[in-house]
Amino acid sequence: MAETAELGSVAWPPAPIRTERLVLRGSEARDRAAFVELHASPEVHAYLGGPRPRDELEREMPEAPGQWPGSFVVDLDGAMIGQILLRRATEHLRPAAAGKVDLGYLFLPQAWGHGYAAEACAAALGWLDGVLPGEPVVLATQTANAGSMRLAAKLGFTEVERYEAWDAKQWLGMRSAVAPSG
Ligand SMILES: CC(C)(COP(=O)(O)OP(=O)(O)OC[C@H]1O[C@@H](n2cnc3c(N)ncnc32)[C@H](O)[C@@H]1OP(=O)(O)O)[C@@H](O)C(=O)NCCC(=O)NCCS
Repeated sequence: MAETAELGSVAWPPAPIRTERLVLRGSEARDRAAFVELHASPEVHAYLGGPRPRDELEREMPEAPGQWPGSFVVDLDGAMIGQILLRRATEHLRPAAAGKVDLGYLFLPQAWGHGYAAEACAAALGWLDGVLPGEPVVLATQTANAGSMRLAAKLGFTEVERYEAWDAKQWLGMRSAVAPSG
């Protein structure tokens, strides 16, 4: 698994980011139950090595999980529906990704199929473009994870390579930074 680090000198958490339907914000203690749901869900972890036992999560999950720079809670009408992770992959299985910012996303199954992940990821990437201009972003996913592959394409990631790892076919994509305008 990639070893990861925080994003560096960015101010965290940023002011909540509002999209048409969602808010992206830092996590709070009230999100803990949703974090447990997210990590206990077999659907969410179908292509991520399997879920963790719920009782273990209930015991070990920090009181306020996910409080690190680059970890956004995605909020719909006041409740967490997913998490977006922007982490620097200090060590990555693939040299092309090492040292780059890596995008991850996990949404609760009841929130799939509404375009929320696309809307939230686009906003998170826009935020990154603002705080770290010119920063390329990588994304790794199993090729069998059809929803994730579609989302990566929608967000403008293009294929760097396909490879085999953890007994599965993997896809590495990259998104070149948007050139600053003006
Ligand atoms: C990957 C994942 C985030 C994708 O979620 P998603 O809801 O399918 O993604 P999107 O936000 O792009 O939504 C797309 C769907 O919403 C539909 N949709 C409905 N209303 C919409 C709207 N108003 N706007 C846009 N799309 C809409 C689209 O038609 C699309 O369906 P389709 O893919 O069947 O064509 C989700 O499956 C997930 O959390 N998986 C588990 C975690 C995981 O595997 N992460 C990847 C590794 S990091």
